[in-house]
Amino acid sequence: MYKDKLEQANEYIKINKIPKDELPVFHAAPYCGWMNDPNGFSVYQGKIHLFYQHNPYDKDWGSIHWGHCETEDFIKWKDLPAALAPDMEYDGAGCFSGSAIETKEGHVLMYTGVMKKSVRGFEKEYQNQCLAVGNGLTYTKSKHNPVVTGDMMPEGFNREHFRDPKIWREEDAFYMVAGNKTVEGVPQIVLFRSEDLREWQYVSVLAKDRDGRLGTMWECPDFFYIDGRYVLIASPQDMRAHEEFHNGNNAVYFMGEYDKNKYEFDYREVCSLDDGLDFYAPQTTLAPDGRRIMIAWMQSWDSNIRPAAQKWSCMMTLPRELRIVDGKLLQSPVREIENYFVNPVRYDNIRIEGKCILPGIKGRVLDLTVEIADGGYNEFSIHFAMNEMFGTALTYYREKNMLEIDRTYSGMVRDAIGIRRVKVKGNTEKLKLRLILDKYSAEVFVNDGMQVLSTTLYTPAKAEDISFECDGAAVTTIQKYTISVG
Ligand code: FRU
Repeated sequence: MYKDKLEQANEYIKINKIPKDELPVFHAAPYCGWMNDPNGFSVYQGKIHLFYQHNPYDKDWGSIHWGHCETEDFIKWKDLPAALAPDMEYDGAGCFSGSAIETKEGHVLMYTGVMKKSVRGFEKEYQNQCLAVGNGLTYTKSKHNPVVTGDMMPEGFNREHFRDPKIWREEDAFYMVAGNKTVEGVPQIVLFRSEDLREWQYVSVLAKDRDGRLGTMWECPDFFYIDGRYVLIASPQDMRAHEEFHNGNNAVYFMGEYDKNKYEFDYREVCSLDDGLDFYAPQTTLAPDGRRIMIAWMQSWDSNIRPAAQKWSCMMTLPRELRIVDGKLLQSPVREIENYFVNPVRYDNIRIEGKCILPGIKGRVLDLTVEIADGGYNEFSIHFAMNEMFGTALTYYREKNMLEIDRTYSGMVRDAIGIRRVKVKGNTEKLKLRLILDKYSAEVFVNDGMQVLSTTLYTPAKAEDISFECDGAAVTTIQKYTISVG
């Protein structure tokens, strides 16, 4: 019997579902196959929905569907059927990234439909914005798709790179930002407006790269107001390393002034959102209680590796609460994680000298905070996900005020990037490192979210030792909780 593409995908998913114990415990991961960007992170009928770029059939990027899961607390994820398949002429080359919003008509998804078209014998790709409406479980694509096409933009704007709509509502209308670039290759974010979701008008270039240092294309934009400030988030591709940015694809936020009459965001500052090895394409949503929560793909396109035996690829970060302090965007793990804390172990003001192992401090699914109050030392390391063969190290170099994550010995069998070393941001008289492990990942929140380093690991789950090492003596307070999600 003929089955449509979505039905086919959902049947495949059912049969090939990865057993729960092979996946991370509290990080959203695919049912099977491949996952990239978070999409449609939104609240619908009181529940938090997360969609994602998903290829059910392979461990690599390919036939891009929208996978779907939901949560009530950002920690426990429940799989739902895949919501979109690339089954129309206008999206046959992929249902690319997008967002979602709750409306009177239902849960509205806005995504990029990618189509291939032959132009004078050459195959060209076009990216347009499309809608689907659903009930939190199943979704129907709009018969008016695509609702926003590249030729609605002024001359000189690239029509092949026009993607990742992020939608929101203001009193007067719906607004949407998307990534784009000029035909000369200057990355920019374009803004559209609609009163009924169906008819859209191009409004403005919200922001544009000014000095040629921010890559070739800004993917996955997000624009929101928080703590009295407007913030623009984007994921610039193909950057050259400078200041706090690394080579390749970065995820950044812009702080600046928004001129609401001109619909232009004049950015004054650009900062990296995460300084680890794996973080891209973040998207935010407003939680029912007013918190702005961000989630991202915990993977780098350039160091995209996994153990040969692993039957699935990629996961999301732990969702993070955002706030502005002194003009900087700070991030904390969602507080709901604390509801899953068990087996606390604490050491107050202990001296770490040389190498030491502390009873009760081990595991691969945990939350470990280390506060270094004082120090006659230069190097302080936490080694984790460790046994006689493997180990990942987080090291603070005090004189240089640098933090380094080194996963060289985490079990990678590819020559992907293993080390990242970054300047510690903000006031560092006292260093506080909060390390969250969930089997195959480490997220390090530095000084209450001034900075975060997210990194995936390739280490067999049985390597669960943790040790501390100091080349002098450091007075340290250590608090550990195991995270248990039933
Ligand atoms: C970002 C991205 C998006 C695109 C999607 C395709 O990682 O390249 O711009 O919509 O992935 O899967």
